Amino acid sequence: MNVIEAINTRRSIRQYTGEVINDKHIDIILRAGFQAPSAHNFQPQEYIVVKESETLELIAKRHKYAKALPLAGCGIVVCGDTTKESREGSLIADCSASIQNMLLAAHELNLGAVWIGLHPVKEFSEIISEILDIPEHIIPIAIVAIGHPNVKKEAIDRYNEEKIHKEKW
Ligand SMILES: Cc1cc2nc3c(=O)[nH]c(=O)nc-3n(C[C@H](O)[C@H](O)[C@H](O)COP(=O)(O)O)c2cc1C
Repeated sequence: MNVIEAINTRRSIRQYTGEVINDKHIDIILRAGFQAPSAHNFQPQEYIVVKESETLELIAKRHKYAKALPLAGCGIVVCGDTTKESREGSLIADCSASIQNMLLAAHELNLGAVWIGLHPVKEFSEIISEILDIPEHIIPIAIVAIGHPNVKKEAIDRYNEEKIHKEKW
């Protein structure tokens, strides 16, 4: 799969078979996350790989949009280190670039993945910080749920000529 094809066919997958994910695949996905660009090349991202079913179930129980997590079998929590990047906007942008790389890498590996939002919803980021013992200076931005897909989703073409402004607004 080339990059353009991956971008055009990636979809959020929330239904999984429950089959365990190979550690080599998790490693490839993490490496894709690390390759993302970051403002000033500060690389403020930190990653928590969660595979224990009890933890995944606890998160799903307390985060209403994370119900897919236990059957996915793996959640990678992408966090931003505020001591490396103090501007919150840049921290979010850096983590988001990393998250998108990871989603595309999972898709290339024929795995299903979905971005589960945490920051800036205080309730969600606090739940995750509490469950995963995340220190104060680290902001959990999102969880990338990854698993073997139990559903095939069609690609959607979202191109919209009306949103493209030529030279000036
Ligand atoms: C910032 C952000 C937060 C999101 N949060 C969630 C979430 O908490 N749970 C979820 O199931 N999907 C979440 N999504 C996935 C979106 O719902 C999904 O990308 C969107 O509906 C478009 O569908 P697609 O990814 O299949 O193209 C999030 C996506 C983004 C970018």
